[in-house]
Amino acid sequence: MLQNSDEFEIVIKTHAGLEEVLADEVTVCGAIEPKIITRGVKFNGNRELLYRCCLKSQTAMNILVTVAEFEINSMDDLYQKTLDIAWEKLFSLDKTFAIKGVVYADYVKNTNFPALRVKDAIADRFLKQFKERPNVQKDNPDILVQLLLRDKQVTLSLDAGGNPLNQRGYRMSGLEAPLNESLAAGILKLAGWDMKTDLYDPFCGSGTLITEAAIMATNKAPNATRKYFCLKNFKGYNAKLWYELIDEYRENEIPLECNFYAGDHYRGAVETTRKHWIKLGMPLNKLELKNNDFKSLEPAPGKKFLLTNPPYGKRLTAKNLPWVYREIGNMLKHKFSGNKAAVFSGSEEGMKNVGLKPLKKIKLFNGPIESKLHLFEIYEGSRKSRPKPNKHKSIYRKTK
Ligand SMILES: C[S@@+](CC[C@H](N)C(=O)[O-])C[C@H]1O[C@@H](n2cnc3c(N)ncnc32)[C@H](O)[C@@H]1O
Repeated sequence: MLQNSDEFEIVIKTHAGLEEVLADEVTVCGAIEPKIITRGVKFNGNRELLYRCCLKSQTAMNILVTVAEFEINSMDDLYQKTLDIAWEKLFSLDKTFAIKGVVYADYVKNTNFPALRVKDAIADRFLKQFKERPNVQKDNPDILVQLLLRDKQVTLSLDAGGNPLNQRGYRMSGLEAPLNESLAAGILKLAGWDMKTDLYDPFCGSGTLITEAAIMATNKAPNATRKYFCLKNFKGYNAKLWYELIDEYRENEIPLECNFYAGDHYRGAVETTRKHWIKLGMPLNKLELKNNDFKSLEPAPGKKFLLTNPPYGKRLTAKNLPWVYREIGNMLKHKFSGNKAAVFSGSEEGMKNVGLKPLKKIKLFNGPIESKLHLFEIYEGSRKSRPKPNKHKSIYRKTK
């Protein structure tokens, strides 16, 4: 494992439904045949691959390096087997550490207890070696150890990021119900936006979709400006390589080709979107931001792509949800004909009011809320020029 070899196991966690997208991303970073696991991927790699995934993967949430896997018969066994690991080869005494435990074991009554045993064992290991123990720090520790206990099977890993990687550093304030950045990136990739067509989000909220879209279209490494990475505290951290990779990614950035439109009827949301855009250094002349109702949207002529996440009444209250969704349907028919659109929503009921059949629906989760990404392709031209599938009024092409 990590201690003795240049190659080690890397496990990357993401949101349910984004595993394939993540596998593609890590393959571009250099991973060979990543294996799809529940909400993630795993593969073997070296430090350079680990650094590349941390900097460049846009859908990753946690990037873990496996330290040890073993079976236990008791909590004392967990302590002893953790004590046997050469933690001093992984990080030094002056680093703070914390343990995050995920426990799926019926026989464990107090689910915090396994993490406490691991913490004691690591501290005692240092005590034995150096007569001193490293300090525990709950928030932003130098080293975050992840414990997974599944029945009797233990996996101990080092979390390369520390905080989840969706925390890129551009989010400014606590607007309600923003999309998780990694989820937004995954939605963009599943929606099939080509990074060249003008992108519209008339329910932009804090602008996560257009901001992640701009990161993608400029070929930016999404996490290159983030400062906090626990991997910088791993023994053997190669700062030269880390900053060389950041430079390489910066050199590969490209200018935005398309324009972005974002709107929201709440002024605070529009201002937050503007701040995020500026914080990322995106050109303001490529963004048209409007503080208005989505019904006032007048798209520019030419090809366009609508990608939006309208309110769905669970975390946000919309006075008249059916009306909003009916009007979304009208907007698609009348203002996006001949174009593609994708609507991410947790309201199946709401989506029925759109009145158009999606080409495809992709199940995802927005936190605990089951949601779907609905992909539409809208016919252009007069009704006569369309094939006549049935008498139904849909102007959308059907799933192949
Ligand atoms: C689910 S949130 C979008 C969150 C966004 N994707 C983000 O990441 O922050 C829906 C947004 O729609 C806005 N909204 C609701 N009704 C609207 C309307 N009639 N016109 C324009 N915006 C509206 C709300 O203010 C809210 O910001």
